[in-house]
Amino acid sequence: MTVEVQRILVIGAGAMGRQIGAVFALAGYDTTVGDVSQDIVDAARDEIRTRIARLAEKGQVDDPQAALSRLTWTSDWDDAAREADLVVEAATERLELKRQIFARVSELARPDAILGTNSSTIPSSLLADSIRNPERLCNMHFFNPALVMACVEIVPNPQTSQETIDTVVSVSQRTGKEVVLLKREIPGFIANRLMQAVLDEAMRLHASDVATIEDIDAAARLALGHPMGPFQLMDLVGNDVISFIHHAEFELTGDESAKPSPELEALVAEGRLGRKAGRGWYDYS
Ligand code: CAA
Repeated sequence: MTVEVQRILVIGAGAMGRQIGAVFALAGYDTTVGDVSQDIVDAARDEIRTRIARLAEKGQVDDPQAALSRLTWTSDWDDAAREADLVVEAATERLELKRQIFARVSELARPDAILGTNSSTIPSSLLADSIRNPERLCNMHFFNPALVMACVEIVPNPQTSQETIDTVVSVSQRTGKEVVLLKREIPGFIANRLMQAVLDEAMRLHASDVATIEDIDAAARLALGHPMGPFQLMDLVGNDVISFIHHAEFELTGDESAKPSPELEALVAEGRLGRKAGRGWYDYS
């Protein structure tokens, strides 16, 4: 059995939240994307307008105006939380922040609203005690860029109800994405565990001066058929995000090898966050 979903709230208008919101609107859902920063909300709205227009130019969207009219952008999401059938949190990868957001959502949302977190590493069971109806919560993890990547990982926690799982599976499928449903929680889930193995090995190869980042990226693309090399991928996702993922995994598992490499930490400290900063492993200026 699934809960009827028509109105969705996405919390966080960063790189992920804005595109997740667009994915829902393109699938016909009335979608609000909310963020505390008006500047981020404005930038997100502008980017998504351009992206949807581009998809229409390429014949991948029939009615861009209809999709845009289903999207509301706001720096105050309280009303949208009250009305939403589904709330998807896509804030920064910090446990305390996510717990605060879910505590607020839990105060506002209908008790039957379904709650998803786009967290890439933090299992939803760590958020469950901050809400009233933990059986309504699970991870619903999209990939960057969410408008393009064809997968959603769905990760139930031990308390998640079958109705919640069925609903998020059904909504994800309506967006045209393929669902990967985990049998149980594990920090990092599947895709990021696989990705991290490649990224960490790439950084080790570079740190031990085996090859340039260009050559390591070329090997991944041309010998293995990856769409982009590991250093290009880190610059796309954001080196700060990759670092957050490592820290979160270390905090959750206590596994020293999950800590970010000194090279990655140095890059983040220098502000070389990737494409969004104009520089990362590569220079984009
Ligand atoms: N947002 C939305 N659409 C984008 C985009 C972006 N940032 N970048 C590219 N696209 C779309 C555009 O429609 C573009 O076509 P146009 O230029 O005609 O508009 C199309 O993709 C192709 O883009 P490009 O020609 O610029 O480059 P490409 O062919 O290499 O494709 C890519 C870009 C889709 C990003 C591809 O390189 C790719 O699939 N890379 C791997 C991405 C990946 O692994 N993502 C998962 C990261 S892990 C994660 O997200 C989880 C986490 O928790 C951190």
